[in-house]
Formats: sequence, C-alpha cells, structure tokens
Amino acid sequence: MKNVVYTNSSAETIKLGEEFSKKIKNGGIILLYGELGAGKTTFVQGLARGLGIKRRIISPTFIIIRTYKDEKFYHIDLYRVEKETDMETLGIKEILKDSKNVIAIEWPEKIEKLIPKNRAIINFQYLDENKRRITYG
Ligand SMILES: Nc1ncnc2c1ncn2[C@@H]1O[C@H](COP(=O)(O)OP(=O)(O)OP(=O)(O)O)[C@@H](O)[C@H]1O
Ligand SMILES: [Mg+2]
Repeated sequence: MKNVVYTNSSAETIKLGEEFSKKIKNGGIILLYGELGAGKTTFVQGLARGLGIKRRIISPTFIIIRTYKDEKFYHIDLYRVEKETDMETLGIKEILKDSKNVIAIEWPEKIEKLIPKNRAIINFQYLDENKRRITYG
C-alpha cells in the first residue's frame, strides 16, 4: 500500500522527515528518489532532526557521504558518482555492515542493485514552487 502525502512548504517536508525518523531510528536504509530540487535533502533535514542531530544538514553532493557518527547517521548523495560505482570504493559497504546505522541515500539509482532489499523507498515529485508529492511504503 502506497502512502501519498502532499506538502505545501519545505517546513512540511521537514516535519514528514522528522515523523519518518521514528520508523528507522534503530537502523535502516532509506532510498530517496526524485529530480533536482524535489525535496530529498529537505526531508533528510527532518530525518536528522528526528534522530537528535543538532548540526545543520547540508547537501553532501560534493563529498558524497556526510557522517554524523555520534548518531550513527549517514547522509549520502550519489548525484556525482558514476553509475554502478563499486560500493567498496565509496565506503558504503562498510557502513552497511552495522544494521544500527541509519543511511539516507539521494540518487540511489546509481547503486540500487547493490543495496540490501530491506530498505525504505521514498519518491519525491515537484508539483510547483512550494508543492511536492511524496510517496512511500
Ligand atoms: N514542499 C516542499 N518540500 C520540500 N522542499 C520545498 C518545498 N517547497 C519548496 N521547497 C524548496 O525546494 C528546494 C528543495 O531542495 P532540496 O535540496 O531538498 O532538493 P533535492 O531533492 O535534495 O535536490 P538535489 O537532487 O539537487 O539534491 C529547497 O530550496 C526547499 O526550500
Ligand atoms: Mg539533495
């Protein structure tokens, strides 16, 4: 059963991410699909808030992985990564070893075949400047 949510502001998407964090706070993989500006990082800001992270969440596009070690949280953005890049090279394999880690991945299509099947999938769709359609489950 698909859940569909429409958000009308970034604050609403952050709130949704915060809610979602309750489901995965003991560990899990979240794949975030959607075009540029669809709201993936915004959602992750809420996710991080829900996990008790006080630091500002900025997009890891240029560094690929941002680690919040104390909270076992990893924010990954594969936008700039070559398709099917080896996960070992990226350091993701190592992160997946600990099932208590919470791992949020933007642009996961680059490595989706290699990701374990127990994962949450969230789709983001841009509708207009402030409106997004978000589906999951
Ligand atoms: N309802 C909404 N939900 C999420 N973001 C919104 C919403 N309305 C407006 N925005 C704005 O849209 C932008 C979403 O950018 P964000 O970085 O979250 O996208 P992204 O999917 O991570 O893109 P990228 O693929 O470039 O990483 C932000 O500037 C945010 O403030
Ligand atoms: Mg992003």
